Amino acid sequence: MAKARVQYICQNCGAVSPRWQGRCEACGEWNTLVEENTAGGIGGGPGRAPQKGRVVELHALAGESRTPPRIASGIAELDRVTGGGFVRGSAILIGGDPGIGKSTLLLQASAALAKKGERVVYISGEEAVAQVRLRAERMGVSAAPVALAAETSVEDILTTLEADRAPALVILDSVQTLWTSTVEAAPGTVTQVRASAQAMIRYAKQSGATVILVGHVTKDGQIAGPRVVEHMVDAVLYFEGEGGHHFRILRAVKNRFGATDEIGVFEMTGGGLREVPNPSELFLGERNAAAPGAAVFAGMEGTRPVLVEIQALVAPSPLGTPRRAVVGWDGGRLAMVLAVLESHCGVKLGPHDVYLAVAGGLRINEPAADLAVAAALVSSLSGIALPADCVYFGEVSLSGAVRPVVHAAQRLKEAQKLGFAKAVLPLQSLDKDQGGAAGLVGIDQLAGLVAAIAASGPPTGRPAAREPGGRPAERRRATIAADEP
Ligand code: TYD
Ligand code: MG
Repeated sequence: MAKARVQYICQNCGAVSPRWQGRCEACGEWNTLVEENTAGGIGGGPGRAPQKGRVVELHALAGESRTPPRIASGIAELDRVTGGGFVRGSAILIGGDPGIGKSTLLLQASAALAKKGERVVYISGEEAVAQVRLRAERMGVSAAPVALAAETSVEDILTTLEADRAPALVILDSVQTLWTSTVEAAPGTVTQVRASAQAMIRYAKQSGATVILVGHVTKDGQIAGPRVVEHMVDAVLYFEGEGGHHFRILRAVKNRFGATDEIGVFEMTGGGLREVPNPSELFLGERNAAAPGAAVFAGMEGTRPVLVEIQALVAPSPLGTPRRAVVGWDGGRLAMVLAVLESHCGVKLGPHDVYLAVAGGLRINEPAADLAVAAALVSSLSGIALPADCVYFGEVSLSGAVRPVVHAAQRLKEAQKLGFAKAVLPLQSLDKDQGGAAGLVGIDQLAGLVAAIAASGPPTGRPAAREPGGRPAERRRATIAADEP
């Protein structure tokens, strides 16, 4: 008989440790290691004699398959993110910071669905029935026949749901408040959250109802505890937004029934969330086109083109190690663009602080933003404003070459629709999609863009970013002084 082997498994991240520790070395969480006996498990060597299993039916890949039956929520931006509506019998986790508007969004979706005649049950574990009613009143959806309860016990919730016809949608706000008597742990702990979520997900599969679990996110961006829930559910959506801004972005990070790169855009108003069908207009709304350091990036979010302003501020640094700060973009990617500007385009950014922000609080993941970032940086350093009616997109490689990006035609179309007459894009994208139409400038080297910006500056002794040996810091200060009345 083999000796039983004991391992300690982190309930937060799943890391395995040979001995107990107060803190998981992998994810840094405290008190998450739990003893598990692995003898007889996969790779665990000979343990218990295996029980005889039954023969399961094996299927071919090809065969009859129906498209999953979906219920459109009636909120277009939400349906876009879920891939065309809620799939019956699926479980969805919606994560986000407290106060971002998760409950508001779900109450609105519940009301819209209930008005269409579907049975919707909204279980609030955080707010009393009166509070939810008050919110519904404020949003003007009180008349919708949503079944409401304030409850946290999984057993009570399941018994209640099973007592009537199966609902189309069940909302559990939030998963951290749920508790089940089958496990002995406090509500909110990983064990409780996992067991409760499992019970509710099982209910979804059995009844055909769509179950939505709301989860709060910790400061570092992880759904607290429910990390473990992420792989159990069919879809994980994040609801995010910047503190000072009114609009919110719903983003799919996992979706078994649809694409994960779609975003839904909403605006928080006094009467609930308003859909924003054309986000570009919103993101460009507060633009000051005449200021140096701003470039409009023609990006793609899933299948939808989105124009957004990239803002850069390059300022002489008093520090030995200049500061680099980024909001809404990848810091590593910024370092790369800075390095390419320095070594291939003769732009001296070394002794400067560099700040970069994506306007409006949008977060961009596309490498296609490289060119717009470079344009904004050069514009800020040289003090030369970029043309107000021009968009930029293209990926920059480490060699300083500008590489083609996908969906060039769609990006250009969106730009044209919003009144942008010019575009700077990769030469190869230009060849493929447009036969060199007026206003389109194709470039294959980043140095070409830098030279064009420098040449576009007024001839009144304005500093050119590319002047070898130039001291942009002093020159820029002189320019600003001369500009101010
Ligand atoms: P809420 O949905 O409670 O957030 P979560 O469930 O993610 O914690 O949103 C609360 C915030 O939304 C609160 O700060 C007030 C604001 N809000 C509005 O601005 N307008 C509204 O109509 C509603 C209902 C909320
Ligand atoms: Mg809430």
